[in-house]
Amino acid sequence: MQTITVRGGQRLCGEVIIHGAKNSALPLLAATLLVHGISEIHNCPHLSDVRASMAILRHLGCRVTRQEDTVTVDATAPIGSDIPDELMREMRSSIVFLGAIIARCGEATMSYPGGCELGPRPIDLHLAALRRLGVTVEERHGHICCRAENGLHGAEITLAFPSVGATENVLLAACMAQGTTVLRHAAREPEIQDLCAYLNACGARIHSTEAGVLTIEGVPHLHGCAHRVMPDRIEAATYLAAAAATGGELTLRRCCAEDTSPVFPALEESGCVIRAVASGDGLQTLSVKAPARLRPLGTVRTMPYPGFPTDAAAPLLAAACVADGTSVFVESIFENRYKYVDELARMGARIRVDGRVAVVEGVPALQGASVACTDLRGGAALIVAALAAAGQTTVCELKHLDRGYADLTDSLRAVGADIRRE
Ligand code: UD1
Repeated sequence: MQTITVRGGQRLCGEVIIHGAKNSALPLLAATLLVHGISEIHNCPHLSDVRASMAILRHLGCRVTRQEDTVTVDATAPIGSDIPDELMREMRSSIVFLGAIIARCGEATMSYPGGCELGPRPIDLHLAALRRLGVTVEERHGHICCRAENGLHGAEITLAFPSVGATENVLLAACMAQGTTVLRHAAREPEIQDLCAYLNACGARIHSTEAGVLTIEGVPHLHGCAHRVMPDRIEAATYLAAAAATGGELTLRRCCAEDTSPVFPALEESGCVIRAVASGDGLQTLSVKAPARLRPLGTVRTMPYPGFPTDAAAPLLAAACVADGTSVFVESIFENRYKYVDELARMGARIRVDGRVAVVEGVPALQGASVACTDLRGGAALIVAALAAAGQTTVCELKHLDRGYADLTDSLRAVGADIRRE
């Protein structure tokens, strides 16, 4: 069993390079299925979820190669329409392949992405939207069997909630449908914009004239292109939290300041000073300087973009554990996102959870302990807490962290953390 061991209490200082966004790379890889040709996806992070997406593409009949940060997908040959259970289980977000496979094959069969670490993750919104586009859906023995008997056709769709995954599935299914689709109350996350940019570069016609409304004019054919995955705003937020928790001073290169900005107010409330400087490549360098002791973070309420991202709440909550006062976190997106709180309690954190609310009473210092990752972002919270804690922390169940953080231990060691993986 692999573990990460951290001797906490080092002030982080130096530079970190932010990778391509996991939550963008996965739908982009699914989208390459629509292209009768070759897609080059640059800045693709080395993560287990990316490897799982590549395995699904290969299973479906694509030629997939990786050279350093570039994944090349050749989807010219006819592709299969089913994803076996074991590949679906590898990665819970594999549901975004549904829209892409239906668009390409007119049918798709996959297993239901059942319950998960954040609570139930239903797909009713995905399926209702696909039905509007002409898909019949049968659910049999935990499998979803979809078929577009008469092809996909454009439709007017309003999502009951701006689900990221449902928006992605509609985009993928609608961009080669007959006619025009108007999707209202669509997710506005930057990863959606990145997917639209890739699809439009392949010849799709997607535009947004007002916030939360996407118009998708179906086109008969998409061609290959090269696309660079946007920076990972959650990885950036995690390093900001690590700097905050250790009274550190970090420079984060290759960020998008605007995408990351929903987490700035809470960190600024705690006394951190954050600056963004253009780096000439269309991106920004973020610098953060944290006070020796954080003030409380106020009330952090997770919301769809441009609200505070649910994925960044756990690492910031870990920083709030060592603030001088009480911070409050309200989770509005997922039902069960506080499993990691019990692990933080082993390190001496004082947190009370009531449903979707966590009240964090800062303590003067956390103590190192033996802890286990319960989920991806909860795992990141444990690392942030370990960096701030006195003494040694051992973190296990690293498979969760490997889904979403590339080069984590090396990057932290380079900025002064006493951290090793073995
Ligand atoms: C994506 C991200 C995830 C992030 C989340 C919210 C990826 C791979 N994952 O997840 O990291 O935390 O966006 O920003 O990009 N819901 C339904 N029915 C549905 C679909 C969703 O009730 O059919 C509910 C979910 O249970 C949840 C909420 O809507 O409570 C948000 O889900 P959604 O935006 O779809 O998140 P994901 O796409 O799963």
